[in-house]
Amino acid sequence: MKKTSQISVSMMCVDVTHTRDMVRLMEKNGVSYFHIDIMDGEFVPNFCLGTDYIRQLRTISKIPMDIHLMIENPDRKLDYFDIRPGDFVSVHCETTRHLQRTLQYIRSKGAKAMAALNPATPLENLRYVLDDLDGVLIMTVNPGFAGQKLVPATLGKIEDTRRMLDETGHENVQIEVDGNVSLTNAVRMRQAGADIFVAGTSGLVKDGVMTEEGIGDFKKAIA
Ligand code: DX5
Ligand code: ZN
Repeated sequence: MKKTSQISVSMMCVDVTHTRDMVRLMEKNGVSYFHIDIMDGEFVPNFCLGTDYIRQLRTISKIPMDIHLMIENPDRKLDYFDIRPGDFVSVHCETTRHLQRTLQYIRSKGAKAMAALNPATPLENLRYVLDDLDGVLIMTVNPGFAGQKLVPATLGKIEDTRRMLDETGHENVQIEVDGNVSLTNAVRMRQAGADIFVAGTSGLVKDGVMTEEGIGDFKKAIA
C-alpha cells in the first residue's frame, strides 16, 4: 500500500547563514520534517549537527524533527536530546545491542521509532522488531557524508523492505531513504516503495535549486 510521500530536508546541507529564510520556504512548501544528522566521529568518520542545533531550530519552526542518530551506544545518549511527540528518531541497528529496548524507549517519549540500516546490513535484522517500528531508514549511501553516489543494491532492498512489511501486516510502517536522493533516483526509490525522502545536495539543497520551483520538481519526482 502506497502512502503519501513526504520530504525530510537534510539540514546539514542547508547554508547556516540562510537557515531562517530556508525554513520559511520549507514551511510554505509543505516540507514534512527536518532531517537532523547526528554523528559521533566513531560510528561514522565525521561530526555534524548537535543537541543545541535542534533546540534553536525549535524556536523558529514547528516542523517536526527527523533525528538520524549515527552514534555508538545510542541508548546511553537518547536523553541528551529534546525529543518530542511527532518527531522521528532513528537508531542504527549496528550501534545497539538491545535494539528492541531502544525502540521502545523512543516510543515512550511519544516519538516515532525508526531503525536505520547501512547498505551492507541485512534487512533480516529487523524481522523480530517489526511491532516496535514506525519507520525503517534505508541508507542508500554509507552514512556520514553528503554528496555520495547511490549504492545500487539498496534499491532492491527498499523493495524487499516494503514486501516484508506488507506481508507481515506492518503496512503502516514508513520507509525512509537517505543518500543521493536525486530527482532520477527519487523516482526509482518511490517505485521501490519509499515514503519519506531525505532531500540533500543531490536533489534539492544546492545553489539555485532550493526554491519554490525546486521543491515542486522534487515533489513531482516522489509523487
Ligand atoms: C547522511 C546524510 C546524507 C545527506 C544526504 O546521513 O543524511 O546522506 O545529507 O544528501 P545527499 O546524499 O543528497 O547529499
Ligand atoms: Zn541522515
